[in-house]
Amino acid sequence: MSLIILKFLHYLAIVFSGGSLVGVGLINSVFTKANKVPDINVGKVLKLLGYIGLISLIILWLTGMLLANIIYGGFSINSAFNVKILAAALLLILSFVVNIHMYNSSKNKTPPNKSIMKIATMSGRGLILIVLLGAAIAFN
Ligand code: HEM
Repeated sequence: MSLIILKFLHYLAIVFSGGSLVGVGLINSVFTKANKVPDINVGKVLKLLGYIGLISLIILWLTGMLLANIIYGGFSINSAFNVKILAAALLLILSFVVNIHMYNSSKNKTPPNKSIMKIATMSGRGLILIVLLGAAIAFN
């Protein structure tokens, strides 16, 4: 029963982390193409999506660590799993950095740095694809 709950939470967090990554990317690219800066309300949405992404990644780590311990007795599963958790760790760091950047820019009432946001979104997309591919190979 606890396995089902953990897996369910793991999958739910995947939906929310992926969803927030797609959302932030789309909003930023629409505003960048229009050469405009997100207004205060869109800024709030971006900040919320950032928090949702970070919380989902933390839930993915908590449930993932429990799943690995319960099902496989630890983290030595296979190399695809190593790649998966390495990419997941980078994603977590990236999400922390972006959230801190967005927090500081909203505190200073300046728009988030365009290049930081662009690089972060592109790396985030690449990393989440690596994590998913790693999961598909590790648990096939
Ligand atoms: C961005 C973060 C993550 C994503 C997108 C992700 C994605 C996935 C997916 C799609 C599966 C299903 C694979 C399957 O059952 O065939 C899965 C299962 C699993 N994940 Fe993650 N994961 C993430 C983070 C983590 C982390 C950080 C850990 C460990 C510390 C972890 C450990 C596991 C384990 C042990 C399973 C269960 C395998 C099984 O049912 O046999 N995951 N994950």
